Amino acid sequence: MTSHHEQTTSLTVNGRPCQVPADPRMTLVDALREQLGLTGTKKGCDRGECGACTILLDGRRVLSCMMLAVAASNAEITTIEGLSAEGELHPVQKAFHANDAFQCGFCTPGQVMSAVACIAEGHAGSAAEIKEWMSGNICRCAAYPQIVAAVTEASVQ
Ligand code: FES
Ligand code: FES
Repeated sequence: MTSHHEQTTSLTVNGRPCQVPADPRMTLVDALREQLGLTGTKKGCDRGECGACTILLDGRRVLSCMMLAVAASNAEITTIEGLSAEGELHPVQKAFHANDAFQCGFCTPGQVMSAVACIAEGHAGSAAEIKEWMSGNICRCAAYPQIVAAVTEASVQ
């Protein structure tokens, strides 16, 4: 009998260590969604054009469809599931809710992750600045005015 050790890649997601198969072609979005069941991160275009898959890597926003899972192994990954602590919504999530900043909701996790980083980067000083720095996050429902309002509200909290 031969013993077979499946190779794995270690990831740190929302503060927890986890293992995914060490498939050198697996993108981070697929590792999160298909291997770890974290389906809050959405896969829209799968080619870096919509922002639906935005996550934070060491606090910086990254398109998880454009990154290989193995390349994220030494970083702290934060997904939408990791934003709300003990059932309490993150202030950005609260602001999206309060401002009706979504319709179908598909783009929302990516918008929220991007907004968290946008505010942390200091790029939420005006509506124009928010629009510019959130421009990688497409909303097919065109909820942009409400999204800008939500980011503005969250940025002054
Ligand atoms: Fe990654 Fe669209 S799914 S940018
Ligand atoms: Fe539908 Fe943005 S709320 S795509």
